[in-house]
Amino acid sequence: MGVHSFTKALLLAGAAVLPLSQLVAAQTIVVDDGIVIAANETTVAPAAEVVELDSEVPLVEADVIQLTDAVLANLTALQLTNISLFGFPADEEEGTLRKRDVPIGTCRVFPGDSRWPSKLVWFLLDLLTGGALIETVPIGAVCYPNSGVYDAAKCQTLKDNWTKGETHAEDPTSVMSPLYQGETCMPDNGGSSTCKLGGFPSYAVAVRNVAQIQLAVNFARNANLRLVVKNTGHDFLGKSAGAGALSIWTHKLKSINYIKSIKTKSYSGPAFKLGAGVQVNELYEAAHKYGFTAVGGECPTVGVTGGYLAGGGHSPVSSIYGMGSDQVLSIDVVLPNGRFITADETHNTDLFWAIRGGGGATFGVVTSMTVKVHPKISFSGAKWTILAGPAFGIPEDVFWGAIKAYWRKFPAYAEQGSYGYSTVFGLGPGAGYIWTMQPWLVPGMSLADFKTMIAPLLAEWAELGFPLEPTYFEHDNFYDTWTKNFPDEAVANSNMRTAARLFPATVWDNATALEDMLDAVKAVVEDGSALIQYNIKADAPTDTPDSAVNTHWREAAWFGIMGAAWSAELAADEIEVINRRITDNWMERLRAWGPGSYLNEGDVMEPNFGEAYFGTNYERLLQIKRQVDPNDLFWAPTAVGSGRWAVSDQGWLTKQTGRLCRVGET
Ligand SMILES: Cc1cc2nc3c(=O)[nH]c(=O)nc-3n(C[C@H](O)[C@H](O)[C@H](O)COP(=O)(O)OP(=O)(O)OC[C@H]3O[C@@H](n4cnc5c(N)ncnc54)[C@H](O)[C@@H]3O)c2cc1C
Ligand SMILES: *[C@@H]1O[C@H](CO)[C@@H](O)[C@H](O)[C@H]1NC(C)=O
Ligand SMILES: *[C@@H]1O[C@H](CO)[C@@H](O)[C@H](O)[C@H]1NC(C)=O
Ligand SMILES: *[C@@H]1O[C@H](CO)[C@@H](O)[C@H](O)[C@H]1NC(C)=O
Ligand SMILES: *[C@@H]1O[C@H](CO)[C@@H](O)[C@H](O)[C@H]1NC(C)=O
Ligand SMILES: *[C@@H]1O[C@H](CO)[C@@H](O)[C@H](O)[C@H]1NC(C)=O
Repeated sequence: MGVHSFTKALLLAGAAVLPLSQLVAAQTIVVDDGIVIAANETTVAPAAEVVELDSEVPLVEADVIQLTDAVLANLTALQLTNISLFGFPADEEEGTLRKRDVPIGTCRVFPGDSRWPSKLVWFLLDLLTGGALIETVPIGAVCYPNSGVYDAAKCQTLKDNWTKGETHAEDPTSVMSPLYQGETCMPDNGGSSTCKLGGFPSYAVAVRNVAQIQLAVNFARNANLRLVVKNTGHDFLGKSAGAGALSIWTHKLKSINYIKSIKTKSYSGPAFKLGAGVQVNELYEAAHKYGFTAVGGECPTVGVTGGYLAGGGHSPVSSIYGMGSDQVLSIDVVLPNGRFITADETHNTDLFWAIRGGGGATFGVVTSMTVKVHPKISFSGAKWTILAGPAFGIPEDVFWGAIKAYWRKFPAYAEQGSYGYSTVFGLGPGAGYIWTMQPWLVPGMSLADFKTMIAPLLAEWAELGFPLEPTYFEHDNFYDTWTKNFPDEAVANSNMRTAARLFPATVWDNATALEDMLDAVKAVVEDGSALIQYNIKADAPTDTPDSAVNTHWREAAWFGIMGAAWSAELAADEIEVINRRITDNWMERLRAWGPGSYLNEGDVMEPNFGEAYFGTNYERLLQIKRQVDPNDLFWAPTAVGSGRWAVSDQGWLTKQTGRLCRVGET
């Protein structure tokens, strides 16, 4: 939908704080000397001042444009329409909502229902948001001759770029795990079939400022719509899609502001204020430009202050700086009641605790976060790819002996700051394995010290007859380390599903238990599971304010993602068997050793997800959720408090293809 001149008149007449020019182009950055430049992926603003945080981090430009009661009163006074659908609740209690009893069996309004908003109402939302509303056209529609948007050239480009993260991050509704949107309208299935909406939301608002987020939140709440939040669409569990929903798409909130020095109760030093749409590669580029090390994930297109930091976030530098969320100093967020607040060590402290680790799509829409950055440091490490198995001259027992020798040293390596990221994939029954280290690195360690650290392991391997020769590297900064040594991650593969476990360092204290655990992981991989593993430590550094990060993360020395792929040609019941085995067999065999899992990279069917994804923090998180969002406007599968709603018509797997209904009390 485009921008209409009527909007301009409406907004300029009714709302001095909502001029259209700002609504549609809110991204500007103020540089030291007061010059205002347009923000884009490559611009970063240096700021001269020191920010004292007994007040709040200054608002970024996108936050200045807010929806207030005064704005709404002006719109009503104009008598252009009844704006009650966009207003704040009349009965707020201290900024939180009052609980309304939603009887079990009641559902969010769904397309086709009599209470589904009319075209006119959607048109009004579009007007009020300055033309930011987008009616969903699935990304694959260009490949469907009867979709009305068929374009053979665009379809080919889409197919060529399908596994790139940016392809889906740049689309308002596309997600990188198509399984959960029902693998609907996939580009390869064009032909004569019909492109359906499946689990995609009905509409998205491409937000560029706080006011648009507030309008969307208020509208969804008042009209009893399902609300989802999509940033990049990286989520592995289907949490950034939802049939019949209104989606808030945060990808365009791209501001990055450098704060030379910030002072909070617990920290004094440099920081970046990051808009909700900033991605890992943009953060790393900005940090590199200003000579810092920033904490983010390994994949360039993951959204930093979206799902990543809300879920905790593990990083190549976690073993020395802690989780991503341990860097967060301040959070700006639009709450379920539509109000815009800041949470930090002195304001809204419950939310500041909860949002750092308590998961995305739960407490509101984060608009930006201010995070610590660290001094530039050097990195050294190693990479390798090795094929093992009869055809490669390395018997499988030698391979397992070698990999166990490596596993046995995990807590010791993590203590020294190691981040070891590697994948083990089976080549078929009896055909062996491919093990790729991509990479193993230690922040702040010289290559000479790194070689000394791994010498005993290499000696053991030589003894075992495991002929591995690592490729070494050393760089004087993180950015080069990251751009030169990490893989190009492929996304959006169909017909695959993952689950994960966090293995605590304490298992290594008991030699018998350790061997049992290593044998259990080996057996699961021999049984056909992939293994994507991180040797990592994620303790909170001293002086980190307490947060909701999964307590299992704090104890871990090893994070393993397991999973399986299947052929689309298999019969439905065979696919079900493969999927049930992941949750009920493979994960069940490992839960004894690793009761915890990671909410951002775990299994949507994880039983007792509260314990697995949040550890001992779950009860307090649930209390805060019930207080801030008593009517569950924000809902995502396995999110805090999600158990009393469910997506209808699901079988052995929770996808996002049905309507969301109230099912219980917990
Ligand atoms: C290839 C790949 C590599 C990865 N590497 C790492 C890694 O190294 N370390 C790591 O920790 N994780 C990693 N992840 C997992 C990643 O952190 C999660 O998928 C994360 O949720 C992505 O966040 P997003 O905002 O980009 O994605 P989205 O799918 O857009 O959102 C994820 C969740 O957060 C919610 N959300 C997004 N934005 C907001 C907001 N502004 N306010 C409120 N809720 C919001 C969404 O509703 C959804 O529930 C990786 C994932 C992939 C696919
Ligand atoms: C409301 O409208 C009046 C008259 O146009 C204007 O002066 C005032 O600034 C507006 N207030 C807000 C909050 O938009
Ligand atoms: C980004 O903004 C800067 C400063 O305004 C400008 O010089 C540059 O050309 C812009 N880049 C893009 C890709 O728009
Ligand atoms: C606006 O709509 C609400 C809810 O439908 C209704 O109660 C109210 O009377 C309406 N106000 C006006 C001015 O029409
Ligand atoms: C996307 O595909 C086209 C070919 O259709 C190719 O020219 C282009 O380089 C691809 N984009 C990326 C980012 O690889
Ligand atoms: C060590 O682990 C084994 C196997 O799990 C267990 O039987 C034993 O009790 C443990 N020993 C101690 C001292 O905890």
